[in-house]
Amino acid sequence: MDSYIDMPVAPRAQDARRTESIKLYGRDAFEGMRRAGALTATCLDGVSDLISHGTPLAEINAFVLDFAATHGATPATLGYKGYEYACCTSVNHVVCHGLPNEKKLRDGDIVNVDVTLVLDGWHGDSSRMYAVGKPKRAAERLVRIAHEAMMRGIGAVRPGARLGDIGHAIQSYAESERCSVVRDFCGHGIGQVFHDSPNILNFGRAGTGPELREGMIFTVEPMVNLGRAEVKVLVDDWTAVTRDRSLSAQFEHSIGVTAEGFEIFTLSPKGLHAPGIEIRATPE
Ligand code: MF3
Ligand code: CO
Ligand code: CO
Repeated sequence: MDSYIDMPVAPRAQDARRTESIKLYGRDAFEGMRRAGALTATCLDGVSDLISHGTPLAEINAFVLDFAATHGATPATLGYKGYEYACCTSVNHVVCHGLPNEKKLRDGDIVNVDVTLVLDGWHGDSSRMYAVGKPKRAAERLVRIAHEAMMRGIGAVRPGARLGDIGHAIQSYAESERCSVVRDFCGHGIGQVFHDSPNILNFGRAGTGPELREGMIFTVEPMVNLGRAEVKVLVDDWTAVTRDRSLSAQFEHSIGVTAEGFEIFTLSPKGLHAPGIEIRATPE
């Protein structure tokens, strides 16, 4: 299975000091990530206008391609390990890496769009859920839980905290809502490399793992299922789906560790954190 956990990482020392293979970045890198992250977030804001009944997923791919080209960026996924698209589009029980093919969105669908734009060498990696029309209550609830899970993971980030605190915050919240967390994929270090060390697991024990330090840059991207955690990859070798065909949802931000806590590089300029779905400040 093509999981980031098994993936060899290729650390580069450029522009970075290294501690136990987790790079520490300075001001210029944060500025580069801010610009790449803002561009990716603006692209995801634009995607929301395309989300309606009958839109082929390929149209989302075409939009991302064009957006990147007109903004001096390149989609990192294009040609990545043989992947042929500018984004991933994962509908309903698709967990991640759904292919933006001719399949059409339908009323009631929930879809994750995952975009990574490279601007001046820096990777802005983010994904959001979108709702087509009015999804069922269970689907809306799952989307809200996935977003809250990501934000709780990010909320655990500050110098002195441990990597395991992030996974613990995500897992304990998602499971308290009777959902499950996918184990086969994880967040990752990011910067001038798309998938760098460390792996950011979406489960774990508080107080374990390497200590977080100011200057680290990585993604937080939990996948949360309504049913069981198990996934399988379809014969296309990319599309990951829930084994029990239950709904799955994911959000992703690229973030940096700051002296005070964290900075999110991929916040929506339009405030469209989860278009079409009201995200409540506190869980039900
Ligand atoms: N953007 C995904 C991530 O969050 C990676 C997709 S790799 C692809 O890390 F090849 F499937 F596009
Ligand atoms: Co990512
Ligand atoms: Co991504």
